[in-house]
Amino acid sequence: MKLLKTLGIGAASLVLATGLAFAAEGQKPARDVSFSFEGPFGKFDRGQLQRGYKVYKEVCASCHSMHYVSFRNLSDPGGPEFTAEQVKAVAATYTVQDGPNGDGEMFERPGLPFDRFPSPFPNREAAQAANGGAYPPDLSLLTKSRPGWYGTFNQLVNGIGGPEYVYSVLTGYQEPPAELAAEAPEGKSYNPYFAAGHWIGMPQPLTDDQVTYDDGTPATLDQMAKDVSAFMAWTAEPKMEQRKRTGFMVLIYLGILSLLLYLVKKKIWADAH
Ligand code: HEC
Repeated sequence: MKLLKTLGIGAASLVLATGLAFAAEGQKPARDVSFSFEGPFGKFDRGQLQRGYKVYKEVCASCHSMHYVSFRNLSDPGGPEFTAEQVKAVAATYTVQDGPNGDGEMFERPGLPFDRFPSPFPNREAAQAANGGAYPPDLSLLTKSRPGWYGTFNQLVNGIGGPEYVYSVLTGYQEPPAELAAEAPEGKSYNPYFAAGHWIGMPQPLTDDQVTYDDGTPATLDQMAKDVSAFMAWTAEPKMEQRKRTGFMVLIYLGILSLLLYLVKKKIWADAH
């Protein structure tokens, strides 16, 4: 019993210590947001995903690609669930390159639902040249590759925090502290949440009322940051709702199976005692 206790305390302090060690390295931990899709039964909020898409399209898409998402995904169940007509109309507002045609020439045509979101730059070099040397990463999977929190214990309780990280970066622009102001690199802004150091090569992308939401929601900085982070959580894990549903069914199945096995065991051994 004593040994167990000692082991338990040891494990707990290890977990806490690793969490603190990571947090101490400088980057501010993400700010917690209570998203509708958290927890074992959490679901995406359709309205929020639709608003988030609008923010991505009107603001972020001028610099960031979302290469792994096709227009048709916008109508998939478990996502923003735009209607098929809406998706067709959205796709048609883009011009995509296709080809080659019979003469070997590439040509341009209006987008169709099966096209992927077009990238704003033809290649990495062009993207960097347009952004003062900083590369705007593809946003499709970003919420999976950037933890908002570190430490086993923290992540067990709060989750990985990818959408919270994005939210924190978008709302985290501020005046640099006096001792850092002097060394501000050319063209960079101060953002203590940014994973690669305090200086970020993305100018603050969102300010109040930057987009006009179709559902009348006031477009505050906070609201837009939440919505686009939720949208990015969906692009990174489009089958999340399905996965949770399946997991829940598996648990029910295992529960019933255990009960049956227990009854069978009782029956078989009934006369053996
Ligand atoms: C003017 C171009 C531009 C716009 C518009 C823009 N970004 Fe960025 N973004 C960048 C660049 C460049 C970087 C890379 C910064 C760096 O490495 O210092 C970046 C970095 C980021 C990061 C941090 C990525 C990391 O590596 O951790 C996130 C998150 C992000 N952008 C999200 C967004 C979202 C969401 C929007 C729309 C609301 C948006 N950006 C709009 C140019 C832009």
